[in-house]
Amino acid sequence: MKSFIVAISGASGAVYGIRLIEELLRTVDTVHLCVSGTAFSIIRTETGINWLCKSEQETENKIRKHYSSYKIHYHSETNLAAPIASGSFITDGMFIVPCSMKTLSAIACGHANNLIARAADVALKEGRKLVISPREMPFNSIHLENMLKLSLMGVKIAPPVPAFYQQPKELNDMIDFVVGKILDTGGIAHDLFRRWE
Ligand SMILES: Cc1cc2nc3c(=O)[nH]c(=O)nc-3n(C[C@H](O)[C@H](O)[C@H](O)COP(=O)(O)O)c2cc1C
Repeated sequence: MKSFIVAISGASGAVYGIRLIEELLRTVDTVHLCVSGTAFSIIRTETGINWLCKSEQETENKIRKHYSSYKIHYHSETNLAAPIASGSFITDGMFIVPCSMKTLSAIACGHANNLIARAADVALKEGRKLVISPREMPFNSIHLENMLKLSLMGVKIAPPVPAFYQQPKELNDMIDFVVGKILDTGGIAHDLFRRWE
């Protein structure tokens, strides 16, 4: 029974997180999703999708409808009593896609002030897989130091940087390449792009 946490934080590139969940739902049993407040508005701006409702339950229903799946569980970023806030709740790892510099910094400093940072803190303390897709341009030294700090702790740093050797024809090809590379980093099988041979 494979179970992963996905967090979408307030960086540009919400579409990567949305596509990642779609792909994970094809192969894993459960996805626990947390979306930051800013991420909800970026998702709306960048994709036109409005997931945020008045209650956690209504938001979960809307997200389940979007994916036509009951395998996804939504947890509010303020719900620090959610199962994924505890190390005793077993998951196979966590993806933060995209990851803002603020969330990156909170994780690197152990400042678990919302559910995303807390769940990542749990993944670190329990030695579970943690994949972070930091998005900013350009990076400053603080961003780079935070990435190095986490990388030295075994976190996979997988920024959403597209490649061109697979000769993408459209935007979806580029999105799928990035999401495929993120899934590779998390050790999850997929066929989102043709591999170099
Ligand atoms: C449209 C929009 C795009 C943004 N893009 C980025 C980004 O790419 N990277 C980043 O680090 N912050 C970005 N920000 C700023 C973050 O959303 C902001 O620092 C926020 O506090 C992050 O909070 P969170 O990590 O809890 O979501 C963006 C904000 C907006 C409104």
